[in-house]
Amino acid sequence: PVQHLADYRPYPFTLSGTHLDVTLAPRGTIVRARLELVPGALPVDLVLDGGRGLDLRALTIDGHAPDPAHIRRDDETLTIAAAALPSAPFALETEVAIDPQDNTAFEGLYLSGGIFCTQCEAEGFRHITFYPDRPDVMTTFRVIIRSDMPVLLSNGNPVRQEPGLAEWHDPWPKPAYLFALVAGDLVAVSDRFTTRSGRDVALNVWVRPGDQDRAGFAMESLIKSMRWDEDVYGREYDLDVFNIVAVDDFNMGAMENKGLNIFNSKLVLASPDTATDTDYERIEAVIAHEYFHNWTGNRITCRDWFQLCLKEGLTVFRDQQFTSDLRSAAVKRIEDVQTLRARQFREDQGPLAHPPRPDRYEEINNFYTATVYEKGAEVIGMLKRLVGDEGYARALDLYFDRHDGDAATIEDWLLVFEDATGRDLSQFKRWYTDAGTPMLTMEEAWQDGTLTLTFAQSTPPTPGQPAKPARVIPIAVGLIGPNGDEVAPTRVLEMTEAQQSFAFEGLGARPVASVLRGFSAPVMLRRQMDDATRAFLLAHDTDPFARWEAGRELALSALTDLSQGRDAGADYITAIGALAADDAADPAFRALCLTLPGEEEIATRLASLGVTPDPDAIHAARDDLARRIAVAHQDLLARLFDDMAVTGPYSPDAQAAAGRSLRIAALGLLGRIDGGDRAEVLFGIAGNMTERMAALAVLLRLGRGEAALRILHDEFGDNRLVMDKWFSVQVMAAPPDQAVAVARRLAGRKDFDWKNPNRFRALLGGLAANHAGFHAADGSGYAFTADWLMRMDAANPQIAARMSTAFETWPRYDATRRGHAQAALEQIGILEGLSRNTREMISRMIAAG
Ligand code: ARG
Ligand code: ZN
Repeated sequence: PVQHLADYRPYPFTLSGTHLDVTLAPRGTIVRARLELVPGALPVDLVLDGGRGLDLRALTIDGHAPDPAHIRRDDETLTIAAAALPSAPFALETEVAIDPQDNTAFEGLYLSGGIFCTQCEAEGFRHITFYPDRPDVMTTFRVIIRSDMPVLLSNGNPVRQEPGLAEWHDPWPKPAYLFALVAGDLVAVSDRFTTRSGRDVALNVWVRPGDQDRAGFAMESLIKSMRWDEDVYGREYDLDVFNIVAVDDFNMGAMENKGLNIFNSKLVLASPDTATDTDYERIEAVIAHEYFHNWTGNRITCRDWFQLCLKEGLTVFRDQQFTSDLRSAAVKRIEDVQTLRARQFREDQGPLAHPPRPDRYEEINNFYTATVYEKGAEVIGMLKRLVGDEGYARALDLYFDRHDGDAATIEDWLLVFEDATGRDLSQFKRWYTDAGTPMLTMEEAWQDGTLTLTFAQSTPPTPGQPAKPARVIPIAVGLIGPNGDEVAPTRVLEMTEAQQSFAFEGLGARPVASVLRGFSAPVMLRRQMDDATRAFLLAHDTDPFARWEAGRELALSALTDLSQGRDAGADYITAIGALAADDAADPAFRALCLTLPGEEEIATRLASLGVTPDPDAIHAARDDLARRIAVAHQDLLARLFDDMAVTGPYSPDAQAAAGRSLRIAALGLLGRIDGGDRAEVLFGIAGNMTERMAALAVLLRLGRGEAALRILHDEFGDNRLVMDKWFSVQVMAAPPDQAVAVARRLAGRKDFDWKNPNRFRALLGGLAANHAGFHAADGSGYAFTADWLMRMDAANPQIAARMSTAFETWPRYDATRRGHAQAALEQIGILEGLSRNTREMISRMIAAG
C-alpha cells in the first residue's frame, strides 16, 4: 500500500511509559512488553504494528485477558477493539516469542557473529514486539535484559547489573526506532568526557575481544565530536553513559540509538595496516554524525518518515561542518560535491528521482537516499548562505528551544528560520518539495565597464512532477581581472525568477566571472567558456572549489570529445601540469585536480548533453587521456611520487593523508607508462593500507595483481574488513571485459559470505562501480547482478533493494543495453515472493522504460 504525507493523523492514544523484559535466546527470545496507554476522548480501536513473525503467547489489559473476539491480527498489525478497552489509562501487557537466529534481514533483533543486536530504524521495532511503531509516539523506556552474555546494553543509564540480568532506564522520551539492545561477549575501549556544565560521562567503544587495538581512533573521534557540538552548536550530552558497539552484519553505516549507537564494524575499527586514509576520515565523520543525532534526531525527532530529511539533512550538514573544521574545508567541499554529483544528481536524473521530502512511498527503507541525506544537507547549506551565519545561529537556537522533545516537520523547521530572520521562505520551500536538479545557464554581456550576467533556470520533469516552478538559487560570484587578481570578492546573487540579470558596474577591464563559488547551490551550471578561460580560472581563481571546478570542466570537455572520437585534451594537459607543479598549493587539492572524472561521471555528462553514452568508448577515452598526462608530465609525476613519501609513523591526520593522496594520484598516472613497476615496489614496502590498496589497484588494472593479491590474502585472510577490500578492488579494477568473469569467480569462493552486507556490497557494488564492466554490451553484468539481487531479496530485502539502484541509469544507454537491462529488471519483477522493498524499486525503474 502506498503511504501519503497528506494522510497524516496523530496517534489516538498517548503512550506514557514502556517496560520491556527480554529473555534472550538465539531461537525463542521472549519479549514481555508493558505499554501504559492513555485513551483519547472518543473510544477507538487500538492498532499496534507487528506482523506474523511475532508469536503471541499472552495479552492482557490491566491484568485480564480480553475476549479473543475483540482481537484481530493481519500480516502487519494487531487490533484490539474499542469495546475491550477501558476509558481510563490502562496497561497493555504482551508476551511474544521471536527468533533472532533466523533474522537474516538484520531488522529488529538479530544475531551477528554471536552478538545479539538490534536495528529499529525505520520500522524494525515492530519485529520485536507489538507497538505503535511510529516516530511521533514517544515515551520513556525501562528495559530488563536476561541473558548469560557478559555484556548487556540498552538505552539510557544503567540502573541494575547482576549476573544474568541488566536493567536500563532511558529518562528521555523517544520513539521506538531509537530503541536498542546489545548482548554479547564484548570488550570496551573506555574513556570519559566532562560536559561544559559538569556532567561526567562514561564513554565506551565495545568490540569483539582482540579488536581493542583498532578502536582507539573511534574513541578519539567521539570525544572530538562531543566537544565540537558544545563549541559550535552549544549542544551538550544528556546521559551518564555513551556506548558505541561495532557489529559485522549491518545494513547501513551506523545508527543513532539513544545512548547506544550501533555501528557497522567497518566504521569503527581502524589500524594503519588495515584501514585507508579514506576509512579513517569516514569513521571520524560517521562517529560524529551519529553523535550529532543526539540533538538533531533524538531530542528533536521527526513527526513521520516523510520528514526524514529533517534529521538526516541537518545531521549530514553538521557532520560536514565538523569535518571541514577538523580538516581542510576546501578539500571537504570538493569531496562532498563529487559525492553529490555521483550519487544524488544520478538519482535526480533517473527513474528514482524524488524530492528531499517525498510525499509518497511504499517502503520507507527505500528513501534513505542521497537525495534525503546529501541534497537535504545542501538545502541547509543554501539556507545558511541566504540568511547568513548569524541568522543561521539564531534560527538553530530557536529550533532547539522551541522543539526540544518534539516530533517535528519541515514546516516547523522553516518557520523557525522565518521567525528568527524575518525572511519569507515560501519559495525556498520548493527545494524540499520538488525533485530534480535545476539546470542553470549563464550568458555574459560586457559594455562600458559593466559586466552583466544573465541566468536562466529550468528543471526537467521527474516522475510524478511534470512542471517545476522557479526556485530561489543563491549564486556566489566573484570576478577575476585579466592579470589574475580578484577584482570583486564573492557576492551572493539571489535568483528567484526563471530568468534574471545581475550587473557588476565600474569595472576597468573585462574580468572573468567565477560563478557558483563553493558550489553555492546544487544545480548544473552551463556556460559558454573556451578552454583557455577555464585554464585561466584553474590557474587564478581565489575560490578553491571554483578553481577545482574549472579543471574539472576542462577534463570533462576533453573526455566527452575524446569518447566521441574527436581530438581533445591538450589544454587540460598543459594546465594540469602547471597546477600539479605548484608546491605552494595543498597536496590534497592538487591530488583532486590530478584525478580524472570517473567513467560514470563522463556518461552522466554525455547524457545531459543528449548523447547516448558508449561505456567502452568512455573507458578508452579516459585511459588515453590518463596516459597522455603521464607521458607529458613524467618527470614531474615521478618527483611528486618521491617527494610526497610520508616518513615516520603513520598518522591519519589531514596533512599526512594529503601527502599520500598526491603520491597516489601520481602513482596511478605513472602506472600508465612504467608498466606498474613503482606500484609493485610500493606494495611490497608500504606499511599502510592506503598505499598498498592504491598500488594493488594499479597492478590489477595492468593485469599483474596476482602476487599482491596472494600476499594480502596470506596476511589478512581472517580479517573481514581487509578481505572486503580484497574482493571489491579485484572487481572494480578489473579490465571491463573481464569484470563479470572476475565477479563470477569470486562469487564462487567459500569465503564469499554473501549474507554479510559488507561482503555482498564489496562484490556487487564493486561490479556496479566498474562502469564499462557492469554495462557490458552482452548484458552479462546485468544478468549476473539480477541473479544475485533475487537471491539476496529472499534473505535481506533492504540490501537487495538498495543494490538494485545499480540499474537506475539504464534508460540512458543504447537500445541493445536497454533491452538487456529491461529483461533483467523484468525477471526480478516477476519473482514470486519478491519483497515490498525490491518490488517498489523495480517497478519505479521499469516505469521509466
Ligand atoms: N539513521 C541512520 C543514520 O543516518 C540510518 C539508519 C537507516 N536504517 C535503515 N534501515 N533504513 O545514521
Ligand atoms: Zn543519520
